[in-house]
Amino acid sequence: MSFPKEFLWGGATAANQYEGGWQEDGKGINTSDTLTNGSHTVARRVTWKNPTTGETGSTPMMFMSGDKFIPEGAIPAVLDDEYYPSHIATDFYHHYKEDIALMAEMGFKTFRMSMNWARIFPNGDDETPNEAGLKFYDDVFDECKKYGIEPLVTLSHYETPIGLTIKYGGWKNRKCIDFFEKYATTVIKRYVGKVKYYLTFNEINVMSWMPYMAGGIIAFSDQAKAQGAHNQFVASAKVVKFTHENYPEIKVGQMLAYQPTYTYTCDPADQILALEREQQTIWYSDVQTGGHYPEYKLKEYERKGIKLDDTPEDYELLRDYSADFLSFSCYGSSTVTTHEVKDNVGGNFVMGVPNPYLKTNAWGWATDPACLRLACNTLYYRYNKPIWIVENGIGWQDKLEADNTIHDDYRIDYLRQNIQSMDDAINKDGVDLMGYTMWGCIDLVSAGTGEMRKRYGFVYVDRDDEGKGSLARYKKDSFYWYKKVIATQGKDLD
Ligand code: BG6
Repeated sequence: MSFPKEFLWGGATAANQYEGGWQEDGKGINTSDTLTNGSHTVARRVTWKNPTTGETGSTPMMFMSGDKFIPEGAIPAVLDDEYYPSHIATDFYHHYKEDIALMAEMGFKTFRMSMNWARIFPNGDDETPNEAGLKFYDDVFDECKKYGIEPLVTLSHYETPIGLTIKYGGWKNRKCIDFFEKYATTVIKRYVGKVKYYLTFNEINVMSWMPYMAGGIIAFSDQAKAQGAHNQFVASAKVVKFTHENYPEIKVGQMLAYQPTYTYTCDPADQILALEREQQTIWYSDVQTGGHYPEYKLKEYERKGIKLDDTPEDYELLRDYSADFLSFSCYGSSTVTTHEVKDNVGGNFVMGVPNPYLKTNAWGWATDPACLRLACNTLYYRYNKPIWIVENGIGWQDKLEADNTIHDDYRIDYLRQNIQSMDDAINKDGVDLMGYTMWGCIDLVSAGTGEMRKRYGFVYVDRDDEGKGSLARYKKDSFYWYKKVIATQGKDLD
């Protein structure tokens, strides 16, 4: 076992699940601020109000259909009598020094975090940025620098300033390209010398399942989702253009939610289904990293009568300024079949059938270490660009013992096998893997369910599903284990 010397070991977080400070120092409201908590069985909801009639209500955020999933005249809004887990989350805003010190103690080389767009441009379309917001991230990056930790910054992780949704309809409107470009260029310029790696949109392909989370879009039509994705592709290419022309040392990556698709049987019909499932995901990287729309996607648009609001220059931008590297999340695989099988399982957005060879956690996510090696091979050899695993991990209901210890041997087992799989991808397959950031390195709110009990971290945070707890940090057994893994460059996984 050996990882390259420059391999970027670390952990990953997102502002909307970790940062809190939702109304501090001039921050505006963003889409994730309107999401309630939920559970494995109860969906998170988007809350809304009708400014004319005063009526309020909420709608489940996942797997909705229709052109507008909140009532006509209503806008997403924060209501007084609801609980919103992201508002305080696990309060990185006030704990960043302590948290970054913990990351440094583990030996992190990199820390993936996201910037909250509404902290910089509170309404999304403001003339000037909010200096207090910019200052906060200056402080965070300075703290990282102190320990030699390289930040990896996602510019938009499941959040859009709510003003852009209300005034413009979110990312289905081309105006968002300009607003995002202004935001991105403002922060890139500001943090020159402090931040070298950026990702534009977290899991850009989530636009297909949750356009509100991915793009502040309150419509579920195929047309709206296609336009939302197109606008994000163009915005991303503009950011790449900006860095190539001004700061070539800065690298801008794509971020894709990826899980290899397996067939349940060897029936050829199942293989075709798996191919179609794969296409539903990978076309996003064909465009953003590969530089062009694949024919199979254009044919689908033709069949469905989808017409993009586009310009010839869009396609030149996509071709000339594709992403510098491809990062992805991978938690497990999904298994599909055309045959009747009992019980669908959950998983990272794409439903599948149970795979008898794999175990699942309490949320139905199948753990499958082989998927990392498979994903690395598929994605690296499709584009021949460096890749980076920026999310992987396991959600578990950890137990804080009376002596403040947490014995998470299940997490260590999971990570050990996943790191072995990465090692194979590098050393057996020759994949150019830049780094690994374990998801939710310090406990944070679950994106899918809004729960705190679904924990991923090396560090336990005292906070529960009702927002109670001291927010104190405690090291889990996996903290010490990961520290050893990093110190030995992945050689000692025991
Ligand atoms: C990824 C997201 O899809 O999965 C993260 O980028 C998310 O934001 C992670 O937290 C794990 O999902 P969940 O629902 O367990 O939080």
